[in-house]
This record gives sequence, structure tokens and C-alpha cells, in this order.
Amino acid sequence: MCGIVGYIGSDYAKEKVIDGLRRLEYRGYDSAGIAMPVSGAIQITKAVGELKNLEAKISDPAFDAPVAIGHTRWATHGKPTELNAHPHGNMDNSIAIVHNGIIENYQELREWLAEEYGIKFKSETDSEVIAHLIGLYYDGDLLDAVNKAVEEMRGAYAVAAMAAAEPDKIVAVRKDAPLVVGAGNGFNMIASDVPALLKYTRDVYFIENNETVVLTKDSVVIYDENGNEVQRDIQAVEWKADAADKAEYDHFMLKEIHEQPKVIQETLLNRLNPDDSIKLDDISMTKEDIDNFNKIYIIACGTAYHAGLVGKMVIEKMTKIPVEIDVASEFRYRDTFIDDKTLFIAISQSGETLDTLAALRDAKDRGARILSVVNAVGSSIARESHDVFYTLAGPEVAVASTKAYTTQLICMYLIGLYMGSTKGTIDKEYYDFMLKELKDLPGKVDRILLSEEKYKKLAERYHFNDHVFFIGRGLDSGVSYEGSLKLKEISYIHSFAIAAGELKHGTIALMDKDSLVVALATQDRLYEKMVSNIVEVQARGAHIIGLAKEGKTEIEKTSDEVIYIPQCADEVAPVLAVIPLQIFAYYVALEKGCNIDKPKNLAKSVTVE
Ligand code: AGP
Repeated sequence: MCGIVGYIGSDYAKEKVIDGLRRLEYRGYDSAGIAMPVSGAIQITKAVGELKNLEAKISDPAFDAPVAIGHTRWATHGKPTELNAHPHGNMDNSIAIVHNGIIENYQELREWLAEEYGIKFKSETDSEVIAHLIGLYYDGDLLDAVNKAVEEMRGAYAVAAMAAAEPDKIVAVRKDAPLVVGAGNGFNMIASDVPALLKYTRDVYFIENNETVVLTKDSVVIYDENGNEVQRDIQAVEWKADAADKAEYDHFMLKEIHEQPKVIQETLLNRLNPDDSIKLDDISMTKEDIDNFNKIYIIACGTAYHAGLVGKMVIEKMTKIPVEIDVASEFRYRDTFIDDKTLFIAISQSGETLDTLAALRDAKDRGARILSVVNAVGSSIARESHDVFYTLAGPEVAVASTKAYTTQLICMYLIGLYMGSTKGTIDKEYYDFMLKELKDLPGKVDRILLSEEKYKKLAERYHFNDHVFFIGRGLDSGVSYEGSLKLKEISYIHSFAIAAGELKHGTIALMDKDSLVVALATQDRLYEKMVSNIVEVQARGAHIIGLAKEGKTEIEKTSDEVIYIPQCADEVAPVLAVIPLQIFAYYVALEKGCNIDKPKNLAKSVTVE
């Protein structure tokens, strides 16, 4: 999605805003721009393509100011052109704004502004109406004009605005799109996400929905939707400044794959008390609450949904409560059975995915208890939940999610263990057994990472395949979906996943000598059936990459290649099985020369419906 960065302080703003936008590149964009008050008027400069094209236009050192707002645009309404890029100004550029989100009623606003006030629009965008609305209501008080403008707007928006007549402030407002303020000494910043701020400050204010904030170089004042000043504590972001750097890796994705042993360990150990009981700070769910639940919904999108596929099976097994799972965009339009006996688990790395947030709000309105599994501290989904289970994956910059997925799985196991031990549906022996399995995972992931070269060679051998199938049964089925998505979204190869038992009901008609099949067979009790499925597809000429636990060597007889993962309990095998698939996808994309961290058409956080 779009990225917003603003700076106001006693130093020059241009370089800091551009640097901040660079740290938000992972969100995906196709154009960029910056607005600064220079010689009494707001200068708006924009460029299509990468940030370096904008930098080339504003390289004159004299072209700078102590306040600026910048933007990277991921086109929704209007092609990626210079005119459609942000910032947008009103007709005389006395007002400039940057916007992330969608103004749903922009067409009627455009018509009204044009007919009633003779406004001439420069772009095709929805966002431009915001600049004209603020300009229309501006009478020397930018905060007042912004508040009046948002009363006319429907949709999702994070907006930062400046006025030529008030160059000593930035006013920002948000509804259903993220905004965070960075508080500094002699300066303040505003951004769509924390990584844009880390180089300058780790002290942040998270702006809540329908709040407005006024930044000067020495103050941050937050107002609620009724105009009352809000007292908000500063939060110190724990991420190290270089956490959002690639370090010695060629891509964020490879760095984040290699961070998994560490972040799995941190996510797990941060949740355990010295006696190995599960620590639930941020979670106020009581035994009574847990005994009250008669159904659980897991709702998410993309990779987070795939983590939920595993979560459904392990939580059902541990709690004996029926668990439904659905993608958020479908859940919202179903007639579901939600009430105060429902536990609604939302999984989201960014905590800003609008489909998931909207589903959460629907379930909350209907009485469900909301537990979210989120990576981004203070994000919208986290703040609107009753309880939050944070994955401690640190900033995940690559669009293709890896370490967020495996830490989401850890949270699924912990939620199942906590609820099951509280309800008495699992005994201490099983609890202790599972906890040991979880504690052994970081070391086993490390061992798998040592075979990176093997998976790289597989990618070199098979990167030309145009049709790749991922198959599995039980928990392997959920991992198959994740492996397939990884390959699709960064290498653009047509790949899909299917429950292996389903093959004979139609899909096997596609199998031929050009098919590559990645067959996951980590579940002991389903191993024989999986080997039979492999024989079926091999008989049609497909190439097989089998994946099994060490020692399960029968699979070699029916596979062209075999990937082994360390021995482990069936329940935790997904955490290990996904790692080779992540690395395979990475190297296939590398072979194909794809833009691995910023795949085409994709954004890191999908804050539109
Ligand atoms: C995963 O690799 C994708 N980038 C995408 O499917 C992502 O998982 C999905 O958009 C959900 O995002 P969230 O976890 O931030 O809600």
C-alpha cells in the first residue's frame, strides 16, 4: 500500500523524508512525491517509478525546508502517472496532502466541488478531493479545515496535510489506515509504519482510528473525533534500527528466512514462565471465558490464513472445540453463527489488513471474544482486539511472508496448549511433550538452513517448470498452500496446492511429464497414503520432489528428489516443512530474475478491500 512520511523540525526535512520513504518501499509503489514550503509557497515535486527518479528532481541543496510531507503511491484509482502521484494540492497549491487508503465517495465529491465551487481537478485520483476539501474549508486554521473535510469523506484514509500559511505544522488524521508519530528532540515525524522512523527515533505514538494529530517541531497534540485532546503515552519500539536493513543478505526475504530460528525462539520463550506455564500478558481471557466457548473462528488472509489452516487442526485437537477457518474476504459475507460463546482469532502480520479488520469488527459487534495474533505492535487489529498474542518476528519487510508465518504457527500451538490445559482436554504429559517439541524447533530449523545449497540446486534444476503442484494430507495440506503461495508470489510461476486425497477427483487430469509435484509426507499416520498419491502422479509422468522426516526412506523409491526434515512430532512438522519451500521459492525467483522483495502487483500490507 501507499507510504506516508512527514518531518517537521529544526533541521532540513528533504533527506529524512526520502530516507523514510525508502524504508517503506517494501509496501510496494509505482510513483513518489514530496511537498515543501519554499519561498512562501508549497512546492510539490513528483516522479513516476522508483524513488531515485524523484531524488533526481530535487537534488538542488537550496531546494529544502524544515518541514515536508512525502509519499510513495501504489495505484488504486488512476494510472501510475506523475499527475496521479501524491502529494496533491488544491488549485493554488496553498494546501498539500498525502493519502493512504480509498475515498469511497470521491466521485460525488468531485462532482459537487466542480459544480458548486468550480474546482478544476488535475488528476484522476480519489485522493485529490481531500486537498480541495481542506482548501475549501481553510480560513487560517489547518486543523479545523482538516476536521471539516473528513466529515465529508467516506472510506479508509490516513492523511497528512500542510498549508502554505502555516508552515510550522503538519496535521494528520486516520481512519482504517495506519499512522504512527515519531517523537524526537527538536523534531517530530509522521509515517505509515515504524520502519520509516527507526533511524531517527524509537519513541512513537500510535494514532487511533478517527483521531487527528497536530505536529510542530516541538509538540505532538492528539485529538479524538470530538476535538478533545487525548493524553497518549509514548511507546518505545524495541526493534533495532538495523532490524529493517538487509544486513549481509541480497534480499530481505533471505534475511528473514534466516532469522526464523531466532524469532521462533523469542516468540516461544517470551511466552513461557520459569515453570513452563504459558505467560499471557496482553491476554485477559479467563478459565470461565475459555469454558464458555463452544466454537472458534480463525479468520485471516494469505499466508496468515495458511497459518490458520494449521492452527485449526492443532487447536481443535487440543481443545476439543470445533474450529472454523475462512479467508476474511469470504467470512464477511457469510451468515455465520457468531455470539458471546464464540472465540474469534484474527491472524495478521501487519495488523492492518482491511479485510481481516472488517471481519474482526463484524464478529466483535456480534459479541465474539476477539483474540488476535499480530506482528506489528499497536496496529489497528491489535488495538481493536480484546486480547493480543504478539508474534515477536520483528519487522518483516519482504512482501513474501516467511518468519511471520512460522511465528504465527508458534502462537497457534501456544493458544491450543493454553486453552487445552486450562480446559483439561490435554494432560500434563502431552503438554510437556509438546513444549519440548516446540523448544527443539529453533535448533531443527537451523539444521534445515544448513541445507540451503541443496534447495538452491533444486531451484536451478526446476525453475523452468510452468506448472507446479503442491500436495499433502492433514497438516501437510495447509503447508502445501503456503509453499505454493511463496512460489507464485515471487517467481510468478503458475502453482497451486491441493489436498492429496482430492487429486483423483479431477486435478490428476492435469498431470503429465511436464508437471512438477512437491509432495509433503511428514504426517506419520498419513505417510503410506501419501506415498500412494505420489505413485499415482508419478505414473502420469510428473517429476516428484518428496518431503518427509528423516528415516522415512520409502519415499525415495517414488520420488525424483527427496527433502528430509529432522524427526519431530506430527503437530510441529509444518514449522520445519515450510522452510525448504521458502528457500526453494526464493532461488527459483532468483533464477528467473524476479524482484524478490517487491513482487509485481503486490503490497506488503493490503489496506484496501
Ligand atoms: C504473504 O506472503 C503475502 N504477502 C500475503 O498473502 C499476506 O500474507 C496477506 O496479505 C495477509 O497480510 P497480513 O498478515 O499482514 O494480514
